[in-house]
Amino acid sequence: MIPSVKQCLELMERYSMLENIRAHSIMVQKIATLLAVSLREAGENLHVETVTAGALMHDIAKSLCLHSKEDHAAKGAEICLENDLEEIAGIVGEHIRLKNFERTAAVSEREVVYYADKRVNHDTIVSLNDRLGYLLAQYGRNEEWICERIRDNFRQCREVERKLFKKLAFAPGGLNSLIGA
Ligand SMILES: [Fe+2]
Repeated sequence: MIPSVKQCLELMERYSMLENIRAHSIMVQKIATLLAVSLREAGENLHVETVTAGALMHDIAKSLCLHSKEDHAAKGAEICLENDLEEIAGIVGEHIRLKNFERTAAVSEREVVYYADKRVNHDTIVSLNDRLGYLLAQYGRNEEWICERIRDNFRQCREVERKLFKKLAFAPGGLNSLIGA
């Protein structure tokens, strides 16, 4: 099933989501839902409730994984399956890295949440470049192979950005004023 907003908030409670991660998730959801609604208006066949729930739930396992070093995307997908939320398990599981991105395929709910997450640092809307800079500083540990992996993911994210915004009447930089953040 697809959880309602209320059910997502209850699950955040149940899985001990930290306040800052909740605030991050809510901002990611605002962006993801706006993109999904706008893409639908542009003719894409996206399911808005799925995007909203997937965005709210994308970091459901992050607080639990903070100390265990487990992969919070994979763990989050597991939590979704345990709660009969198979419709959003794939979105949660691929929110860090998309598995099979295709530039020419129809826009997917996974791509929207993956992209929206990359536009939010803590609970602030930022550009992909700013988010990349933060991740390199935070997780790169001056290790070239880690930095390259992060950069590689952002090259893909820029492709997702082009794919989404090709259909939209506003530019990536227009999100701040549309969300009112
Ligand atoms: Fe995450």
